[in-house]
Amino acid sequence: MSKKIKKIIQEKIEKIEKYNNFYYEKNESLVSDVEYDKLMKELEKIEEENPELRLKNSPTQVVGGVSSTKFTKVTHKKPMLSLANTYNLGDLEDFDKRVKKVLDTTTSVDYVLELKLDGVSISLLYEDGNLIQAVTRGDGKVGENVTENILQIKSIPKKLKEKVSLEVRGEIVLPISEFQKLNKKRLENSEEVFANPRNAASGTLRQKKSKIVGERNLDAYIYYLVDSENLGFETHISSIKYLEKLGFKTTKVYDFCETVENLGARIEYWGKERENLDYETDGLVIKVNNLSLYDELGTTTKAPRWAISYKFPAKQVTTKLLGITWQVGRTGKVTPVAELKKVEVSGSMVGRASLHNFDEVVRKDIKVGDTVFIEKAAEIIPQIVKPVKELRDGSEEEIIPPTNCPVCDSVLEKEDGLVNLKCMNPHCRAKIQGRLEYFISRDAMNITGGAKIVEKFVDLGYLVEISDFYELKDKKAELEKLDNFGIKSIEKLLLSIENSKKLDYSKTLYALGVPFVGKFLGNLLSKESKNIETLEKYSVEELLSIDGVGEKVANSVYDYFRDKKNMTILEKLKKVGINYKLEEVDESSHLEEFRGKTFLATGKLVHFKRQEIKDLVEKLGGKNLAGVNKKLDYLIVGEKAGSKLEKAKELGTVKILSEEEFLELTR
Ligand code: IVH
Repeated sequence: MSKKIKKIIQEKIEKIEKYNNFYYEKNESLVSDVEYDKLMKELEKIEEENPELRLKNSPTQVVGGVSSTKFTKVTHKKPMLSLANTYNLGDLEDFDKRVKKVLDTTTSVDYVLELKLDGVSISLLYEDGNLIQAVTRGDGKVGENVTENILQIKSIPKKLKEKVSLEVRGEIVLPISEFQKLNKKRLENSEEVFANPRNAASGTLRQKKSKIVGERNLDAYIYYLVDSENLGFETHISSIKYLEKLGFKTTKVYDFCETVENLGARIEYWGKERENLDYETDGLVIKVNNLSLYDELGTTTKAPRWAISYKFPAKQVTTKLLGITWQVGRTGKVTPVAELKKVEVSGSMVGRASLHNFDEVVRKDIKVGDTVFIEKAAEIIPQIVKPVKELRDGSEEEIIPPTNCPVCDSVLEKEDGLVNLKCMNPHCRAKIQGRLEYFISRDAMNITGGAKIVEKFVDLGYLVEISDFYELKDKKAELEKLDNFGIKSIEKLLLSIENSKKLDYSKTLYALGVPFVGKFLGNLLSKESKNIETLEKYSVEELLSIDGVGEKVANSVYDYFRDKKNMTILEKLKKVGINYKLEEVDESSHLEEFRGKTFLATGKLVHFKRQEIKDLVEKLGGKNLAGVNKKLDYLIVGEKAGSKLEKAKELGTVKILSEEEFLELTR
């Protein structure tokens, strides 16, 4: 019997340790908090019933989490405890009963309700008002010294308003707005995005380069003064107000609740109001306000008995996984995409979700036909959380990775074990189309037409390589005869192809599609190299010496320019006059027609976006005006121009240009 129980305990511990490892080492949650807590409670129960089988290092006996080796270890003066979780008002009433029982009272206890910030907890040590050390929670007893990185966070005071020595604890968070900016940048640079702001905050805090921490605009909210009960404060609220006076940032939310019954309404309120905050909260924390009761209430090995957390229900929904589509990207990477029965998640309909790679399918143990939980990572990207295994009826089908490319049927190669499948066929239709679409996308060459034109023109044999766009003008007559296009749309296309030659070097560099070189790196490399000939010659070491370029990027850029096929395409692009050098701001090079002249565009523009005209004017030495007046030299008129055109005509001093005439002027 005990052997069987031992085995059950062992299995549960292994599971928890695996989850802990992913959570603390890779910043990834494998299971929901509810499931994690359930597992932990089950283990606790078995251990309680069989105390002789309880292991000393059982996860029920330590706070959890393993420290990594990058930072020096520091032992906390007082352990950084966790909080017990509850999920409904009934649980909170039980908590209230327990508090009263320990205090041996029937009269009501005052509580404070705070927001439970979803970030990374931190301990900050001050001596004579100066910040001297910042340590992460780690396993609760020993954390990591991250002082260097913490110094980069603006909202953490380095010097307090009074020369006091104390320790405070709080939460480091990445504001949602900053998180979205960061992920956008990572997407542009083909880097993996962070699943949520907490992972991003945690990953950032453990960065080796403090500079990166500074760039990411982390924020910090303090919620606890260590030993406040012995420092002369009577209530938790008064200790927090004192911290604010010293210069600490708090959430300013410390709702006073006279009885636990008052909590219901507040929970409902914050359940909605949290959506309006720029940081993520995963629940509320209910704390006893009277500090003199803390000693008496004490703590368990893991959590204080004077506080508890209430977790908000996760914004997850379930739906059916109907099938998997294997999508081939421009680099040949084959990605599993989940085809889902359409369902609304956080305000929009979701029918597909990327599973990133086959490893994720294995890790999450997903089968076709499964009912799956889905959520939106940071409210944007839909993702599968996990399957509901209890609902399986045996009809579910294993997901098997393809051996051949789903588009061209060539044998796929495996990169990094099974993680990435790659189509190596340079003629694969999906890769060709992906490259062409990327080249003309808005942030790259901004050529009109999109996927529709690419598909048709690849079909007809007009396009294979990105340089082929610049040969289309020789086939104008032929193209104009094509069904579904018409003279106007072909003209528009050819004009936007022509315009693309004038784009900045940073954009043309980005458009080449060098793996890992997105918008940000396109910009950085263009500034560093000034022109493509210099960039071509850089060695890996030279590339690595550029701040912001890592090994992956350096190798990728170096390899790109050593590939004969890439160089042939590049030569063609240079020949047709694509801009591959940084425009130096040189007064004398500005066109005579533009120097010191003022411009304004009005009406519906067909060939340009308003901003493009403005950029071009500035680049060529002109100035943009917002309205028609005597100072205006040129008015560029699009379709259906109205009062501005009238006024310009009235003035009689303004030269009126069509879009085409304006373009002529730029040549
Ligand atoms: S008090 C001794 N207050 O939640 C208890 N914790 O699940 C100290 N947390 O490790 C914690 N917001 O990182 C407290 N207003 C708040 C909080 C909060 C977030 C975090 C904290 C803690 C974790 C426990």
